[in-house]
Amino acid sequence: MAQLLNLSRAARLLGLSRGILQQAIRDGRLASFDGMVSTGDLLAAFPDADLDSDPVFEKITKIREESFGKRVRERLLPDREVLSARLFEQSGELADLRHHLERYHGIVVSTLEKLRSRGYSDLADWLDQQLKEALVTGAPDRIEALEGYMRIFSANVKLVPSGREFFSEGTDTLLEAALRSGLALNYGCSSGNCGLCKARVVSGETRQVRHHDYLLSEAEKNSGFILACSHAAVSDVVLEALEASRPEDIPLQEIEARVKSVEPLGDFLVKLHLQCPRSSRMRFFAGQSAILEVGQVAKEYPISSCPCDDRNLEFHLPESDALARLEKGESVRVLGPYGKFVLEEDSGREPLFIVSNEGFSRVKGIVEHAVALDIYSTILLCRIGGTYLSNLCRSWEDALDNFVYVQAESLDALPDPQNRDVYLAGPTGFVMEVREKLIASGLQPERIFTP
Ligand code: FES
Repeated sequence: MAQLLNLSRAARLLGLSRGILQQAIRDGRLASFDGMVSTGDLLAAFPDADLDSDPVFEKITKIREESFGKRVRERLLPDREVLSARLFEQSGELADLRHHLERYHGIVVSTLEKLRSRGYSDLADWLDQQLKEALVTGAPDRIEALEGYMRIFSANVKLVPSGREFFSEGTDTLLEAALRSGLALNYGCSSGNCGLCKARVVSGETRQVRHHDYLLSEAEKNSGFILACSHAAVSDVVLEALEASRPEDIPLQEIEARVKSVEPLGDFLVKLHLQCPRSSRMRFFAGQSAILEVGQVAKEYPISSCPCDDRNLEFHLPESDALARLEKGESVRVLGPYGKFVLEEDSGREPLFIVSNEGFSRVKGIVEHAVALDIYSTILLCRIGGTYLSNLCRSWEDALDNFVYVQAESLDALPDPQNRDVYLAGPTGFVMEVREKLIASGLQPERIFTP
């Protein structure tokens, strides 16, 4: 019998985004029952799925290596305690299954004996033959085997009340896994001191994998509360947790960060990589800005990295700026986050980013966030003018089935914006010109977003 999987697990098994599967359901190519899809229907709708390669690990590794760099590359294996708990759970399921099979086998054998003793030998022979054939032709279900294997490496976490889902894998805590998946769980210190990441386990099993000083009361423990920054999921989990949904939900912060590196980017820009202290990281929405302050110099810049890595912040600065001449190890005060140029995740439309020159620094984090969210069937990025980090854009296109990169020569080559939210960034003249052009083509102004 075909197994039912939730959409997140099904997407990971096939190495596709959830957005692509959701599109197939809307098109009527894939049946779904209460948000679940059957393994049989999945293979029928996506017959070319390459289950022999490991799409999840390959893609995640490729994106992380080429796009996010070594700092986010994770060890694949979970924490030892978590791994042994998952293996123990799976052994229990197998033992249960074997016990049932043995019972059914006993029932079948005694049924055959009874049929023969009562003169129904023909029926007994037919039943015997059917069982033998079923054993010979019963090929192992490839997708179910792969799913069982992946359960050892990752657990599915569903947040309530939002219904958003993510996978907990590697040595990630629940908080790290949620951030990496583009979700804005409530938190403060990331290191077990403030209690702001408190969440309630509604079902499933979690395990403490990091030390925390914050003390949960006995009543909280008995009600299932844990700290998301120090616990990992052992099994699939439903977690009641607070999430930020608007920029106003995130408090202003002031962090003393250190310069990790300053590298030329091309197009007269440099990349400034700042690292926050482990216990004081910058919480922000992708697309927001921060003020960088060193001595008497202070200037606001877009944060070009994704909130999925809240410790490492990336800024693209004109090489003529004073802060572009910072040295490794220097201290920088970071104030923020500011701004409302963020992804409209709940609009139900797919994103189109149109940028020029350093406008890419405004959308880079949003693109990475959109990729991490895994809810879109296509993410379109169109650059007109400015080529810095174009290799990165091409690596996204290579690694992701749902990402399209267009390097356009002129405004006449803009992609069709219908059914999309359009995010514009670049010099003011460029943004105004594109905006007018889009509105003249019939796009409603409220679907165009600018910094
Ligand atoms: S974020 Fe502060 S205790 Fe978890």
